[in-house]
Amino acid sequence: MYKPFEIKENLFYVGVNDRTKHLFENLWPLPKGVSYNSYIINDEKVALIDTVDICYADVFFNKTGSVLGDKKIDYLVVNHMEPDHSGAIGLLKTRYPDIKIVGNSRTADMLKGYYGITDNLLIIEDKEELKLGKNTLQFYLTPMVHWPETMMTYVKESKTLFSADAFGTFGTLDGGVTDTQLEPDRYRDEMIRYYSNIVGKFGSPVQAALKKLNGVGIETICSTHGPIWTQPDSISKVVSLYDKLSRYESENGMVIAYGSMYGNTEQLAEIIAASAAENGARNIVMHNVSKSHESEVLRDIFKYRGLIIGSPTYNNKPYPGVESLLSALQNRNVKNRFFGYFSGHTWADGAKRELKAFAEAMEFEMVCESVEMKQSLNDNVTENAYALGKAMAEKLNSGDAVVPHKTICH
Ligand code: FEO
Repeated sequence: MYKPFEIKENLFYVGVNDRTKHLFENLWPLPKGVSYNSYIINDEKVALIDTVDICYADVFFNKTGSVLGDKKIDYLVVNHMEPDHSGAIGLLKTRYPDIKIVGNSRTADMLKGYYGITDNLLIIEDKEELKLGKNTLQFYLTPMVHWPETMMTYVKESKTLFSADAFGTFGTLDGGVTDTQLEPDRYRDEMIRYYSNIVGKFGSPVQAALKKLNGVGIETICSTHGPIWTQPDSISKVVSLYDKLSRYESENGMVIAYGSMYGNTEQLAEIIAASAAENGARNIVMHNVSKSHESEVLRDIFKYRGLIIGSPTYNNKPYPGVESLLSALQNRNVKNRFFGYFSGHTWADGAKRELKAFAEAMEFEMVCESVEMKQSLNDNVTENAYALGKAMAEKLNSGDAVVPHKTICH
């Protein structure tokens, strides 16, 4: 029998760690695993907040049993229907047939579609309240953070926010579950990777949610993934990080992401990076898209203000890994970046054509003319590559704000 972990009076952690899956959503690597967090408020009426991935249902029910014994669960609050959190709902209904499921109208549609559940629902509206006893739940609809039904649940008395995916991170909870038991800084990069990979497309809805929560006193954040944030300093840091990322704000630094078949385009990348360093750029991160997972490339692009992308031409298109990255960046509406690009080709310049179209489509500021290489390096190409690295370094160190669609030629 598990010893239930009590986060605060009558609030218990019943989530699980997943150190088995290699890929979250069957897409995003999990080198440090992930947790699926679930919580019980054990009041006069018992509320369970979200469930876990179906693979961990047994562990999950052992944990709920350790808190409740034979006591029934009155409400399941579904903040988010993605199956990493809703997966155990079907089994939960068989164990607790009288449980009332709390959600909004979008939740109801998904409960029916995924699990065939249509009865015993409590459909709430934005800001509606539900009294459990000493605890009053208040529901905040926060659509598209990360799905349309997503909502957050706030306990008015304890100022605890159950935030669904928001403020979540990759990385398991090793031993402890709260920021006081864990090392919060260890999760920062994984929070950026989680945000950029999973929620990154939804900057505007995240901003709308933060605006809605502004003024709501929050003393504890219980996300569906990663540590429980209890300390004012941690809460301020994670809220400010989400605010910054959802406004596409970034740090001083640059990413050079490139593809290369035989090393010629890679040599261009090396020259650009060396020139940037020589001219004062710091935090230069280089990603060979054939080796770095796109998950890490996206994380670093969300992190840093400078972006240079390079590609050889392949079947008259950008190199496949680069093409995928361009699509991922457009899909996430990435904004506010200083930008440059370079291309290589042997007889047809499809990579250059598509990089140019990408640059025009995004709200980036071009720091310099693009660099074009036919077959291999020569003096002129080398000079242009130096100019691109230098222009990026100067822009990054200028303190200037990004001017969307502006092109500066040196
Ligand atoms: Fe953790 Fe959007 O699910």
